[in-house]
Amino acid sequence: MGAKDGKKKIEKRIFDSIKALADTAAEALLKLANEMGDRSLFIGLSGGNTPRVIYQRLAEEPYKSGIPWNRIHLFWGDERCVPPQHPDSNFGMVSESLLSRISIPGKNVHRLKGENRPDEEAEAYEKEIRKIVPKSKSGIPRFDWIFLGLGTDGHTASLFPGSKSLEETKRICVAAIHPESGRKRITCTLPLINNAARISIFITGKDKGEIVAEILKGKEGHVKYPAAMIGPSDGILEWWMDKSATRR
Ligand code: 6PG
Repeated sequence: MGAKDGKKKIEKRIFDSIKALADTAAEALLKLANEMGDRSLFIGLSGGNTPRVIYQRLAEEPYKSGIPWNRIHLFWGDERCVPPQHPDSNFGMVSESLLSRISIPGKNVHRLKGENRPDEEAEAYEKEIRKIVPKSKSGIPRFDWIFLGLGTDGHTASLFPGSKSLEETKRICVAAIHPESGRKRITCTLPLINNAARISIFITGKDKGEIVAEILKGKEGHVKYPAAMIGPSDGILEWWMDKSATRR
């Protein structure tokens, strides 16, 4: 089942609050790490307000000392083209909410360098992912778990509606542009994201209600939304939502 055949199965997980969602996500990461035995875990992180609450929870007990952080490799699904100290930096957000509060080896933190030239950095990051993340039979790196957010315009990672990056079939990481602000970004592409073993889209807040309803109800034209193109070719797709995001 792939994203393009329109038959992808979405596991919907609905929570009373963002706190309940974050608790369950943190618990799920601990469980996954325990199930993996001694093997390393490769996780793709997202920016956004919902994932931030999950990172904050992961920085608290029992996860702070219970998760074997030395076996976890963190990557970013997208980044804004700003230096890491900038308030818009996705790395900066994860650093502040999680990395500065846990003990994780620096070599496990694979930052997308927003301060570099976007096309060069996209190429360098692609190489880094290919070097570190184990590949599936298709030759594409396979993340154990990718976290994503959802924008009210249907974007996910920095894949925006109508953008060229959605047509990418070979490159796993490309330079992108935010359509309204014109600001530069770097994003992982569908071939990489859809090759993951597990993909979770984290969505909270009533402003997301409309786009959630459009995509989940399969309203005409919904296939144009990047978030609707997310569907692992051989993996699990979950939409984690709070009640307000499902009001429609
Ligand atoms: C980014 C994100 C993006 C985000 C959504 C949802 O860097 O902007 O990776 O895809 O997850 O825009 O963001 P919110 O949770 O803040 O609404």
